[in-house]
Amino acid sequence: MLDRIEAAYKEVESAIADSLAQVEDFRLKYLSKKGVLSSLMEEFRNVPAEQKRELGQKLNQLKIYVTERYNSLKDNVGNASNPELKSIDLTRSATPIATGSRHPISIVRNDIIRIFSDMGFSVAEGPEIEDDWHVFSSLNFAADHPARDMQDTFFIARNPVDVLLRTHTSSVQTRTMEKTEPPIRIVCPGRVYRNEAISARAHCFFHQIEGLYIDKNVSFADLKQVLLNFARQMFGPETKIRLRPSYFPFTEPSAEMDISCDICGGKGCAFCKETGWVEILGCGMVDPNVLKSCGIDPEIYSGYAFGLGIERITNLKYKVKDLRMFSENDVRFLAEFESAR
Ligand code: DAH
Repeated sequence: MLDRIEAAYKEVESAIADSLAQVEDFRLKYLSKKGVLSSLMEEFRNVPAEQKRELGQKLNQLKIYVTERYNSLKDNVGNASNPELKSIDLTRSATPIATGSRHPISIVRNDIIRIFSDMGFSVAEGPEIEDDWHVFSSLNFAADHPARDMQDTFFIARNPVDVLLRTHTSSVQTRTMEKTEPPIRIVCPGRVYRNEAISARAHCFFHQIEGLYIDKNVSFADLKQVLLNFARQMFGPETKIRLRPSYFPFTEPSAEMDISCDICGGKGCAFCKETGWVEILGCGMVDPNVLKSCGIDPEIYSGYAFGLGIERITNLKYKVKDLRMFSENDVRFLAEFESAR
């Protein structure tokens, strides 16, 4: 009898089942009234009294083992045939793992890129370590412009050419125009650096997105329409825009754009300094001198450009009061944007 018990162990151990029918076969073979266990029980009745204790124990253990084996075969087949359970990753940790969240600057940058790419703009990038030509000279900056001063710009080397950290993403305009035939329609996101004392309102690095469109017959009206569409998608369909004349060396005419304050709805509040408007970007028609610097004929082509600060847009959208929050990596601050995307 001991041999039969041992043999049953081995058989049960190597039993496999790929379907519910096979699981049922297993049950019938071992656990049913006419099954192996029942027949062993039958045999057990005739065992001499002195062997009853030992064999009884063995038989009991076999019964427990067969039942466990049956349950596990049943579970495996059940999980495999149930698509919901099949997709459960059993290797995953049972305790939740903090997955982190996207940085607010990235969220807003991606939103801005999406809005402009829907209007046909593609993304272009350029280096953060730049030379004088791409950041200043090609963009029509005068030789004595204050931005060329050490007080405003981080210089890395001054000889034989000025090497510096770019102060704006307008440098990507020039780089793209130098190597691309119009039409050009790009947005250029990136980090920029300025020699500023760090405070709630200023930082030595921040992020910008530059926009550029060069083609035949591009007008100021095209610029206005694109910016209006952007403002409404970014800040809501009721948003109004206002363009004020301004000056930038690389555009003529130049303007700064305000949007209606979305806190007071344009009535005037502390946020918009009672004006009802908040400034969000600089823009204008690309100066013919800039086109010439990049080998584009201003008699044939015209274009517009604009530049906006991502921190500024993020402040407006999420009401962040202190610029330094963006670079402190305080998880309590960053976790507030978990649901934003
Ligand atoms: N480069 C400017 C800045 O950093 C922003 C800017 C203004 C970009 C007007 C432009 C523009 O392309 O047309 O302040």
